Amino acid sequence: MTSNLFGETPARPLLITGAAGFIGHEVARRAAMANFAPVLATWHLAQPAPLEGVVAHRLDITDEDAVSALLQQLRPAAVIHAAYRKSGRGAEAITATGAGFVARAVAAIGARLVHISTDMVLDGEHPPYDESALPAPVHDYGRAKAAAEALVRTYAPAAAIVRTSLVCRLDPPDPATKWVVDSLREGQAITLYTDEVRSPVWLDDLADALLELAANDFSGVLNVSGPQALSRYEMGLRLAHCLGLNPASISPGLSSQGAIRRPRNLTLDTSLARRILRTRLRSFDEGLAE
Ligand SMILES: NC(=O)c1ccc[n+]([C@@H]2O[C@H](COP(=O)([O-])OP(=O)(O)OC[C@H]3O[C@@H](n4cnc5c(N)ncnc54)[C@H](OP(=O)(O)O)[C@@H]3O)[C@@H](O)[C@H]2O)c1
Repeated sequence: MTSNLFGETPARPLLITGAAGFIGHEVARRAAMANFAPVLATWHLAQPAPLEGVVAHRLDITDEDAVSALLQQLRPAAVIHAAYRKSGRGAEAITATGAGFVARAVAAIGARLVHISTDMVLDGEHPPYDESALPAPVHDYGRAKAAAEALVRTYAPAAAIVRTSLVCRLDPPDPATKWVVDSLREGQAITLYTDEVRSPVWLDDLADALLELAANDFSGVLNVSGPQALSRYEMGLRLAHCLGLNPASISPGLSSQGAIRRPRNLTLDTSLARRILRTRLRSFDEGLAE
């Protein structure tokens, strides 16, 4: 795990798919800032906000020929695959089939692949989950991401498959955090689930871990999340406390009473990531305190 694909002269580029998205954009920003390697990015419908030192190309990952042609043209040393669609039209084709096209094209040029997966491939009934946990998704998004993992294993068996959890950012806030903070500031009552437990991770920690994995040769599933298991309700109370907002507007609720089944407890065991990564994966509390 010591080799660095980007140590060559001249350095080969790093390519990030989905770079207009929440995670992809931060990965591209941090890679460019750190002078990690020449940074290339792809976007689909919405162009990413321009980043100094990042060259962006338009790509639809459901177009296999286009994926293959772009990778043959750019010949990156590594690809961090962040493009996907959570729901709606074409979600399965983008999230699963598209990931397979990316994996096949990456393997064809002998590049490294870091594929972003999710705790949502798991059933939520057998926590904590280590890397040996087999996918047992309970909803469409989980099923599409589980199918993506399977395709990545088939076409790019040396890839790192990063299972992450709720990804948080305070400044500017991620959409879920923004909703909580805006509601509390406006004195609006909100309900947050007590029966849905995740292992939240801070976006900057996740981005650094992804970049670290792009430059090493770890292969297989790796859980990359914070070490603290929290319900949405517990996260909301902590957020309110940290920002000096009134937690009394937050009521506890039950996700299990909703129409769609969701995994109950997706606590991830992150001891392997802590052993092999230099990146510190801070807990939710540590990130708020900092
Ligand atoms: N955010 C989280 O809390 C979280 C948690 C666990 C795992 N993850 C995983 O992290 C990865 C990135 O998530 P994110 O939150 O950054 O998502 P995001 O903000 O929705 O970004 C996804 C990007 O994928 C692009 N995309 C969609 N369809 C495409 C296509 N056909 N071809 C090329 N690009 C396409 C989108 O571009 P357009 O909108 O322009 O189409 C978008 O910029 C996903 O694999 C997700 O499963 C995220």
